[in-house]
Amino acid sequence: MSGYLRPPPLASSSRSSSSRSSSSRSSYSSFGTRTSGATTPSSIRSQSSNQSATSSASFSSAPPGVQGIPDRTNDITLLDKNYVAGGGFSYIYLGLLHRSNGSRVKVAIKVIRDTGLTQSPEFQMKLERRLERESKLWYSSFNHENIIRLYGLARDPALSSVVSGLVFPWCEHGTVLQYVNKYQKSLRVPLIRGVASGLHYIHAMDAVHGDIKSANVLMSNEGKPLLTDFGCSKVLGVDGYTTELKSSLMYLSPELMDILGLEFVDSKGKKQKGTPTTKASDVWAFGLVGAEILGGSEVFSSIRQLHLPSYVCNGGRPKKTDYPNLSREADSIWPLLEICWSAEPGDRLTMDEVIANLR
Ligand SMILES: Nc1ncnc2c1ncn2[C@@H]1O[C@H](COP(=O)(O)OP(=O)(O)OP(=O)(O)O)[C@@H](O)[C@H]1O
Ligand SMILES: [Mg+2]
Repeated sequence: MSGYLRPPPLASSSRSSSSRSSSSRSSYSSFGTRTSGATTPSSIRSQSSNQSATSSASFSSAPPGVQGIPDRTNDITLLDKNYVAGGGFSYIYLGLLHRSNGSRVKVAIKVIRDTGLTQSPEFQMKLERRLERESKLWYSSFNHENIIRLYGLARDPALSSVVSGLVFPWCEHGTVLQYVNKYQKSLRVPLIRGVASGLHYIHAMDAVHGDIKSANVLMSNEGKPLLTDFGCSKVLGVDGYTTELKSSLMYLSPELMDILGLEFVDSKGKKQKGTPTTKASDVWAFGLVGAEILGGSEVFSSIRQLHLPSYVCNGGRPKKTDYPNLSREADSIWPLLEICWSAEPGDRLTMDEVIANLR
């Protein structure tokens, strides 16, 4: 299954976001979409193998450097033809992955939303390449108990996206905030330590996450926090995809808020627009996530989006008094979080220091 020979679904590049219509879906069975209400994994999967072989043959100019990420398309049965969740730029589908040892596991398939702006084949190819580059790094290099495992990619026109989907374990507990609200007595410091540990690992690999927020911390079925969406902000950084804001405004550090919408020169000397995230901006966001885990709700929820940049740049920070239900563990850890959200990036702790202080 590991060859990456099938093209991105460019054949359907005339699709727009309206491709969620049932008619377009029912004409594709290769992804195991339920047909007539019944799921027929084996027949669907054998059909899709044929389709895969044909597509492979017709796509001789596969983008270079994408070998090594398993293509899971033919191993997945979609459990719901509609997406089950969605964020700012994506849809989440629920599926069943049939593994080679005969076991089956629920998976989330994350696809980048087709905005209708993404119709040009060149643009889609660019997006696909960036997605593959980031997911390849994730797949081959990130192996840590607090980083969600990437099973591979899946590509099928039944998904309302112009590029491949990323296949992850399905996390029944949802996000870390959903978890602490459901299990209010759960200890918070171990959860914060788990998030820190995952981020420390990413930084130790000399990478930046770029979109740390509570919605990107999922809970494993065993109750461990898992960082997800590594590199998605870079994928969305492809010129022309929606706005220049690829990370979430609420978690942007002051130095990023300051240049919001302005041009900057990146480390390769190239002019860019957007949010040049760094390890220090990840640490800032980690501090906010820590406060959210302790308090059980989002930071800055009383501040209107429009006012957030001036609020944060003028020293606005989470306050213990914002949280009536603050966990008692807060006393031991709040001072550490405060250093993480220092205004000056150089004053913030590094993840090495965070980990050393959380032991
Ligand atoms: N692997 C998964 N298992 C279970 N639920 C998931 C999984 N991945 C995502 N979700 C659910 O889908 C929601 C949306 O996730 P998604 O990553 O698309 O959006 P987001 O993180 O809110 O925003 P963004 O588009 O910036 O990433 C999450 O908040 C979570 O509830
Ligand atoms: Mg996310």
